Amino acid sequence: MRPLLPADHDLDDAQLADRYAYPENLGAPFVRVGLVASADGAVSVEGRSEGLGSPADRRVFLLLRRLADVILVGAGSVRAEDYRGARTATVDRDTPPPIAVVTGSAGLEPGSRLLTDTRVPPIVLTLATAPPERRERLAAAGADVVVLERLTPDVVLAELARRGLHRVLCEGGPTLFGQFVAADAVDELCLSVAPLLVGGAAGRIATGPAGEHLRRMELADTLLEDGTLLLRYRRARSPIE
Ligand SMILES: NC(=O)c1ccc[n+]([C@@H]2O[C@H](COP(=O)([O-])OP(=O)(O)OC[C@H]3O[C@@H](n4cnc5c(N)ncnc54)[C@H](OP(=O)(O)O)[C@@H]3O)[C@@H](O)[C@H]2O)c1
Repeated sequence: MRPLLPADHDLDDAQLADRYAYPENLGAPFVRVGLVASADGAVSVEGRSEGLGSPADRRVFLLLRRLADVILVGAGSVRAEDYRGARTATVDRDTPPPIAVVTGSAGLEPGSRLLTDTRVPPIVLTLATAPPERRERLAAAGADVVVLERLTPDVVLAELARRGLHRVLCEGGPTLFGQFVAADAVDELCLSVAPLLVGGAAGRIATGPAGEHLRRMELADTLLEDGTLLLRYRRARSPIE
């Protein structure tokens, strides 16, 4: 056991980007999950993640978006956080990454910021069981509506791969992340731990069905700023026996 602190120098933007670079030459989707939690494990304050944020978390949040080909998120988070399109172009394109929303119900508002405040059309991944009029309204409002056979991680990732979107940043929320954990589809978790105790009934960062096995992760990086701990875990080379 050894202490990690104190750190001896600050990282500039280029050094930070190097540390968070996706693996090169990806031939298949690589799923990075980016989330923030309080020190006592809360995923939200009064139903939103905003209260957990800090300048350090914000800096990494924006960098993770610039490094990604696509931002994948569940509709619950889009509704709770009033999602809008990413603003900043990715490191290797002129446009921001699209937001791809997983929604079985297609229950998104055509007038919401997801559709009205974005530089690129959002991708709405939904099911044939979603009411057709909702799907049509979202398409008319500019969404790229895709009806998939199932919204399981394998099918969702296959659709993103078909579009050449390999560097996946999943921003949650807990329901979507829980499904990716259960399906063993998480390659990396970038977790900001905010120096806050929230208490109450806030949920944890992953919920839903338990996987058959525990997923062993390796701690790949730790950064610290003003009490916010930025942890990066990646899939361990040897799974739990
Ligand atoms: N701390 C953080 O970093 C962070 C990040 C994100 C969210 N949050 C918080 O998490 C909370 C939202 O949690 P949540 O679990 O509801 O969010 P979520 O996982 O973003 O959304 C759940 C919704 O996604 C859709 N969905 C996901 N998987 C599906 C599947 N396999 N089939 C069909 N639909 C599927 C469903 O939408 P439909 O109902 O439209 O069918 C479902 O209701 C909010 O309080 C938010 O602030 C925190």
